[in-house]
Amino acid sequence: MSSTTSIHGMWSSRLAFILAATGSAVGLGNVWRFPYTAGEYGGGAFVLVYLACVAAIGLPIMMAEVMIGRRGRQSPINTMRALARDEGVSPLWQLLGWMGILAGFLILSFYSVIAGWTLAYVVRAGAGTFSGADAAAAEALFSALVADPERLLAWHTIFMVMTVLVVARGVASGLERAVRWLMPALFVLLALMVFYAAQAGDFAAGLEYMFYPDFAELGAHPGEAVLSAMGQAFFSLSLGMGAIMIYGSYLNSRASIGQNAIIIAGMDTLVALLAGMAIFPIVLANGLEPGSGPGLIFQTLPIAFGQMPGGALFGTVFFVLLVFAAWTSAISLLEPMVAWLVENRGFSRPRAAALGGVVVWLLGIACLLSLNVWSDITVFGKGFLDLFDYVTANVLLPLGGVFIAIFAGWIMRRASSEDELGLRGSSLAFRAWWVLVRFVAPACVVLVFLHAIGLI
Ligand code: TRP
Repeated sequence: MSSTTSIHGMWSSRLAFILAATGSAVGLGNVWRFPYTAGEYGGGAFVLVYLACVAAIGLPIMMAEVMIGRRGRQSPINTMRALARDEGVSPLWQLLGWMGILAGFLILSFYSVIAGWTLAYVVRAGAGTFSGADAAAAEALFSALVADPERLLAWHTIFMVMTVLVVARGVASGLERAVRWLMPALFVLLALMVFYAAQAGDFAAGLEYMFYPDFAELGAHPGEAVLSAMGQAFFSLSLGMGAIMIYGSYLNSRASIGQNAIIIAGMDTLVALLAGMAIFPIVLANGLEPGSGPGLIFQTLPIAFGQMPGGALFGTVFFVLLVFAAWTSAISLLEPMVAWLVENRGFSRPRAAALGGVVVWLLGIACLLSLNVWSDITVFGKGFLDLFDYVTANVLLPLGGVFIAIFAGWIMRRASSEDELGLRGSSLAFRAWWVLVRFVAPACVVLVFLHAIGLI
């Protein structure tokens, strides 16, 4: 088992790793992206495919990513280079790390814009703007924000500065403390929201919408829906770009990777399902359209906060927690490239974080302008924000995931994997993982790709 440590610091305990990785996984992907994507593809069937992807593809790849990271102990690029050398295969495997950096840039650029919406909603909730809001008022509030590039730019900038500041200080110090109480708090508040939705919304309809799979709802292009469900699983679990890999590189050598991965994926999935259960009953009770797109939670939750007793307080706390959840995710998107700049270019952490932050900030401007001033500039029929979201979640992350699975399942010696995972090769757990990572996960991703482009 590798007993080395990373030059970038180490988690102080196994719990610290679980918290940090859960902090990376739980974010806007769960609360913002999951409900609106599920809504676009009609609910139940999408949710079922999503859950299957988490279990059959996400979990084994998460174990592979942590394992590779911990063995390499460096940024994803250098980890892949080092492990490829150890196994005597082509140094081209480091391209996996580069693809991850690209995906990280693209994701963070739009992620920060959406986190900016969340920041704006903290202020709105605190100011009592939602009080008495109905569906039309909530819609109007959201549209006014999205149409205003200056406000979007201000919030995007604030969020990027927040992210760069933490990454500049080193991930292990600030992050551990923050996530320790934020995650449980977000969880409790989401549970309260579900409770409220059960009282005030149409709970039965909401649950049926989410959990009754009607495959006809996947629409005219079910391949597209399945691809999006798989993309959502990768996005939500932070897989395929090296974020979980670099967090694994800060994990001490004794912690059990399988157990940790199950806990992290389980909590991430639970938060997504809670978010859906909080939102869909309100959506359906107020005659809103589940498929209305990225604005869904920002048009739904204000109605709830506007009507519930103490809604201004609850709303403020809720959006503050969501900002924190987004923050702990954003940090993990920036960390791989910062680690690489420190390792290979001799940058100090603050300088590396600032450089990465500026590049992402500029790309983010293109994203926020695509919502208004540049709304007629499209590539493949999508503005920059939608395009970056689509290409990363549905193409780059699954592609990265396939290569991670292939590397872990076919390139690394079986004995190395047994050793790193701390499992006996004859154990059921190891054999299950082995089959999933070698065959099931890569085959599923490839089949979903082929199906989505209409080849099968
Ligand atoms: N998983 C996070 C969310 O759901 C977003 C995220 C953080 C991410 N790091 C990532 C997505 C790495 C893909 C890859 O909000």
